[in-house]
Amino acid sequence: MPLVNSREMFKKAYEGGYAIGAFNVNNMEIIQGIVEGAQEENAPLILQVSAGARKYANHTYLMKLIEAAEATSGLNIVVHLDHGPDYETCKSVIDGGFTSVMIDGSHLPFEENITITRKVVEYAHDRNVTVEAELGRLAGVEDDIKVSQEDSSYTRPEEVEEFVKRTGCDSLAIAIGTSHGAYKFKGEAKLRFDILKEVGLRLPGFPIVLHGASSVMPEYVKMINQFGGKLGDAKGVPEEMLRQAASMAVCKINIDSDLRLAFTALIRKHFAEHPDHFDPRQYLSEARTALKDMVRHKIVHVLGCDGKA
Ligand code: G3H
Ligand code: 13P
Ligand code: ZN
Repeated sequence: MPLVNSREMFKKAYEGGYAIGAFNVNNMEIIQGIVEGAQEENAPLILQVSAGARKYANHTYLMKLIEAAEATSGLNIVVHLDHGPDYETCKSVIDGGFTSVMIDGSHLPFEENITITRKVVEYAHDRNVTVEAELGRLAGVEDDIKVSQEDSSYTRPEEVEEFVKRTGCDSLAIAIGTSHGAYKFKGEAKLRFDILKEVGLRLPGFPIVLHGASSVMPEYVKMINQFGGKLGDAKGVPEEMLRQAASMAVCKINIDSDLRLAFTALIRKHFAEHPDHFDPRQYLSEARTALKDMVRHKIVHVLGCDGKA
């Protein structure tokens, strides 16, 4: 199977009432854990790379690792740029083999967001690459930029038809109350399903993307706190809410924090139990297995895309 763009995957997900997991990758063990999980569940998969991940691991290293993942798993894999900050970065990853990009103009005024998104779409579509755009702004931390609760804003459903029509984007990320990072809700979790429903009615058949969708799984928060970490009352999106979103117009669910938490939890546990170890293969293999198990759980119990590869 070659690396693919997201078009067919989203069409099937929309029609089937499930979502595809878009997992952030930064190194070999993270890629392997995710891909092994998807392979065991025969699930379609999006591996996404942020600008920060590219800076950390180098574009070519990540691309070659993802090509190796595709070759050894036989899965349909989309390689996607997460939160593309500008046209140049989108162009650079397209030239370097990515099959899908996000151009994140969510911080820009409406007209400027349309202009930059349209420009990326023109370059991408000529090369069979799909484009995700964003309307509305999530709170939280991404790539060292912290968006406060006050600076975040829900997507305005009355803007989505014009935006999609004028940009030609292939999917749209919307803000309905999720946020990036491990601290999403102070009290009870609240998502604006009314906004998601209205967007779905205005854009029939069109794939919607949910960012900031980690559940901040309590078992890993507990493990990190137990073995010397300080995560306090970190809280994510309840899984039943994600399942509800996946049964609606949401076709792509972004997960990064849950990967970080599972990976870190197992490394902390490993060193607490084996203070004499210093071979990275020992602690990284346990962390990698935790990712695999976590990804399988998401695929089967949250996304509903098991058996859909
Ligand atoms: O939404 C942001 C993702 O979690 C990627 O985070 O920019 O720190 O790689 P990063
Ligand atoms: P989380 O921080 O909830 O994992 O969100 C990740 C994300 O949206 C990546 O774009
Ligand atoms: Zn995001």
